[in-house]
This record gives sequence, C-alpha cells and structure tokens, in this order.
Amino acid sequence: MKIPVTITTNDACVQQEHSSYEKEVFVSYRDTLKNASDDSSYSHEESSLYLPYDNALMALVKESVGEKIKNKLPKYVVVIGIGGSNLGTKAVYDALYGHYDVLDTKNERPKMLFLDTTDSVLMTKSLELLKKEVESQDDILIFIISKSGGTTETLVNAEILLDALMPSLPDIFSRTVVISDKDLALFVQANTQGITTLSIPSMVGGRYSVFTAASLAPLYACGVNVDLLVEGARDMEDVCLSLETHENPAFLSAQALFSNLKTGHTIHDTFIFVPALESLGKWYRQLLGESIGKEKNRDDKIVQIGITPTVSIGSTDLHSVGQLYLGGPRDKITTFLSLEHESIDMTLPQTLVFPGVLPMIHNKTTADVTRAILSGVKESYRAKGVPFISVVLDDVSERTLGAFFQWKMLEVMLLGKLLTVNPFDQPSVESYKIETKKILQG
Ligand code: PA5
Repeated sequence: MKIPVTITTNDACVQQEHSSYEKEVFVSYRDTLKNASDDSSYSHEESSLYLPYDNALMALVKESVGEKIKNKLPKYVVVIGIGGSNLGTKAVYDALYGHYDVLDTKNERPKMLFLDTTDSVLMTKSLELLKKEVESQDDILIFIISKSGGTTETLVNAEILLDALMPSLPDIFSRTVVISDKDLALFVQANTQGITTLSIPSMVGGRYSVFTAASLAPLYACGVNVDLLVEGARDMEDVCLSLETHENPAFLSAQALFSNLKTGHTIHDTFIFVPALESLGKWYRQLLGESIGKEKNRDDKIVQIGITPTVSIGSTDLHSVGQLYLGGPRDKITTFLSLEHESIDMTLPQTLVFPGVLPMIHNKTTADVTRAILSGVKESYRAKGVPFISVVLDDVSERTLGAFFQWKMLEVMLLGKLLTVNPFDQPSVESYKIETKKILQG
C-alpha cells in the first residue's frame, strides 16, 4: 500500500558516510518497536504502536459514543483537556473542518469547542453560546480528558462547565464522557456519578495518545472517519518498521534531525504551506519538544539536550520571519510541508485590474502561485545552505493525517534512542503541576 506522505531529505545535508551509527541504533531498536506493535497487553514504553491495531478499543469507542449520538450527531462537542489530551484532536478537527468553519455557515456538522487553559473570557463566551444554542441535551456532548486524571486546568474547566450547564440540562452527566487512566480518582468518581468512562492504557503517554479514546472518541462524535485515521497509521507503521532505511520515513527524518543537531541546528521549524494544518504542526511541536527536551539522559547524566520545535505558516511567515531564517543564525533545520494537489484551485481572471503590475500572474492559478513560492523558498534555502526536509502530503484526509501522526511518533521514539534520552516522560512538566497544586493549597 502506498503511503500518502512523501519525504525527501536530500537537502538536509545528511552526511551518508557518518550515518552508520543511526542505522545501527535503528536496527537494534527495531525488534522492540515490532514487539510493541504486536503487544495487545500494552506493556512497552512504545505501546502506542499497538493502538491502530486494537480493534477492541475501536469497537468500545464506537459503542460508548455511538450510544450517545444514536442517529443524530450533537451540535456541539466540547473537549476539555490540555497538551496531549487535546492537541491531536484539534489537529484533525482543524485540518478537516475547523480552519474554515467560521466561513462555512451552512454545514450541519458538529462544532468542536476546545477548553484547555483557564481563560475566563473564553469560558464565559463558550457558556453564552452553549446556553443559547443547546436546546436539548442531545445537542451537546462533553469530553473531559486527562491521562493523569489530575491536571488543574482540565479539572477547573470541567467543574465550571458542568456547574453552569446543570440548571438547564439536569441530566448533563449522561452527555459527558471522562477519559483517563483507569483507577484514578477522576475515573472512579466519574463512574460513581454515572458518567461514562473510557480508559487510556497506562503505558501510553499523553502526547502519544492520539489513537486512544482520548482523540478517537471526540472525533467519532464529530463524524470523523476514525477507521481511516488508524488505517493510515497502520500503513505508515509498516513502512517505518522496515529495515529498508533509505525509504523508511521515520528513519530518514530522525537521521536528518539528529545529524543536524550534532552540527548545531537546535531548532526544527515545521514550515506549513497548508494553513489548515497549523494545529497539526502544534501537535508535533509538543511531541518533539516534550519528548526530546531533557535535562538528564537514560543514565541519569545531566545533558540538557533538546530540539526546539517551531511552527511557521507559508507564505504568511515568509513576511515575518523569512529574513531571520535565511539571514540569521545557522541553527535551524526546516521541514517544508505541502500538498501534492490543492483540493480547490482558482484561476486568476482573464482581464486583470492591474495588468502591468505583475504580468507573470496572468492565466495562473492559485496553486501555480503557491507552488512557485514554495519552489522559490526552497531554492533560496539551498543557495544559502540552510538544511531542509521536504514533505508532500497526498491530501488532507483522515488516512493521511493518521499516517502523519504515526510517522512523527516513530521519528521521535527513534530520536530518543539516538540521543539516549527517555522520550516518554516529562519530569519538568510534572514539576510545574506539583508546584501549582502546592500554591493553590495555600
Ligand atoms: O504528554 C504528556 O503526557 C503531557 O503533555 C500531557 O498531555 C499534558 O500535561 C496534559 O496532561 P493530562 O492528560 O494528564 O491532563
């Protein structure tokens, strides 16, 4: 099966003769990855690799959510969660629907509201909207998602939202789903209150949870084809576990990032020429930043290592940070992300209002212009010796997004191995969570 993502690292300045270390590391890690991919008991750090094959999990998600949406999708799906508990969902929603939703006034599709940080303005406006638009409880479905079950922002938002909606929707608990690790207070108390619960396997960390109920459940409630999402992931996983490293996307991109880090390229910019994929870039930002940015390595030695992920939008950000990228410090490697074909293309009018200004745009389409800009940028990067990876997506679809997620998760696992850091923990994030709770305790 052809994967819907094409990756080229020829311009990433990878020195092939120095790459035997990367290959040896991958070959010795590959059995672990394969075992994790086959392990239905979720006992590996890499257990997220089994998720796309977990038919029981998919069936449970569909049954639990299906029972609530029956023959009618809700008008609003509210996602309360932060970090790994909402970024994957938002990436898919924005890519497929959300980015243009405000302009698409006629669609009947559920709208997703994301409540992550404690923003009282957003909460107030969300409540105003919901109180006005939700006429019956079937119009709303609320997902409270926290892998650890104890993230302050998530609990605060959940308490405020449920309390505010309770007077008009007394049975709001029946329209709520809690998703977290099992046996935690949040999970247990949700069950006691009669709230539907779905669990995230213990070994799967938040930023690797996009194929757990954490994302599958709200996306299914929104009408997304979650079967295609995991199908894309499975196809990509197959290719990324192949020993044919020259055509293995995870190996190629991990190798490019690793070798460039060694030469001082500590920033990885994902330069996205498909604006609807900005949230996908932000999902990856968390994955790379949190997984690889580590104070200590696996041997407990202080290394203070990391790759700083940034997200830029083409061509908008060429006019804001393009100068810095091309003229500034040589500390960046870029991944250009673009589409093979635009889903909608527009031809410029036959008769131009300003014909003499840019005569070369005559008879061109918007896709021609985007392609010319992207090729022009790549040419400039090449001329300046600024390294880059080219990634071309077949389309913006569930299958392609699923493939993208799995490619990136495997890339980051392999980067963790190459850099000998643990890509599955986040001790520094935990430290801020603990301090916040201490301050609130007074
Ligand atoms: O990747 C992670 O585990 C974290 O970034 C979490 O996703 C984030 O901190 C939110 O935590 P939780 O899902 O436990 O509420």
